[in-house]
Amino acid sequence: MTRAAAGSLEGRRVVVTGASSGLGSHIVRLLVERGAAVLAVARRTDRLERLVAELGGAPGRVAAFTGDVTSEGDARAMAAAGVELLGGIDVLVNNAGMEVQASIDELSVADFEGMWRANVLSVFLCTRAALGELRRSRGVVINIGSTVMARPPRGRFGYISSKGAVEGITRGLAVDLGRDGIRVNAVRPGIVPSELRGASEDEERARFEAGQHFGRQALSTAGRGSDIAEAVAWLAGPGGRFVTGSIIDVDGGFSLGLAETASA
Ligand SMILES: NC(=O)c1ccc[n+]([C@@H]2O[C@H](COP(=O)([O-])OP(=O)(O)OC[C@H]3O[C@@H](n4cnc5c(N)ncnc54)[C@H](OP(=O)(O)O)[C@@H]3O)[C@@H](O)[C@H]2O)c1
Repeated sequence: MTRAAAGSLEGRRVVVTGASSGLGSHIVRLLVERGAAVLAVARRTDRLERLVAELGGAPGRVAAFTGDVTSEGDARAMAAAGVELLGGIDVLVNNAGMEVQASIDELSVADFEGMWRANVLSVFLCTRAALGELRRSRGVVINIGSTVMARPPRGRFGYISSKGAVEGITRGLAVDLGRDGIRVNAVRPGIVPSELRGASEDEERARFEAGQHFGRQALSTAGRGSDIAEAVAWLAGPGGRFVTGSIIDVDGGFSLGLAETASA
């Protein structure tokens, strides 16, 4: 009998939402490199197709599904595609999200609602749509929160509120679904260069390297999408078998909240 190498995700069937850019594409890359079969979900088909082409020679495999995670019909179709293309679902990664930054005076109702739909409603719809398969596989749900819940920055209350709800869903569902053998956890990324923050990954990395954010982190290295993907891979695999309801910070120590001076 051959034994899978440590860290291997061979045989794991994973659905990743928000896979067309940023953290989601890094999560897909790492999982496929570790041997998983992945359904990559987002609205931009061209981006998903590029990812599928890029990963052609990887140990695992990836298929694309174009859909809007705020639509109940699309969420159901996504779960059906997981069954059709992967043979079932062992892991759901609720990563899709968006942000509009504005103060309470300036944020429009449509933008507030848009954030809640993309960041919160999507987690409910996609998890419910995949539930039958997750029950069958005694699977795993991994939600992507944000370090803003630990250290709320100014002018982002709408986004912070939505990520607070993601943590609430994570803890509440961990309790509800534990008896079905389903684990539900959240990964809370720190500042990681991506398009969500209004700049390209390269621009964001350059900002980091120029030192704008280092002063607020314990580690003086910029976070990478692959750092978040490593935490997701661990939770998705056998190493995370006794972990549920946890909110895991992957943030270079950003959430510690560095004091300005050594004196109290
Ligand atoms: N980067 C950071 O520093 C950071 C820190 C903390 C938390 N996060 C969280 O990490 C997650 C990924 O963010 P990111 O930084 O990688 O941003 P990103 O590059 O903008 O990626 C967001 C992804 O979500 C997808 N998406 C958004 N709305 C969708 C919808 N209605 N239906 C389907 N897909 C949708 C987008 O795809 P389409 O546009 O193609 O649909 C895209 O693939 C988010 O939940 C975010 O809140 C990021």
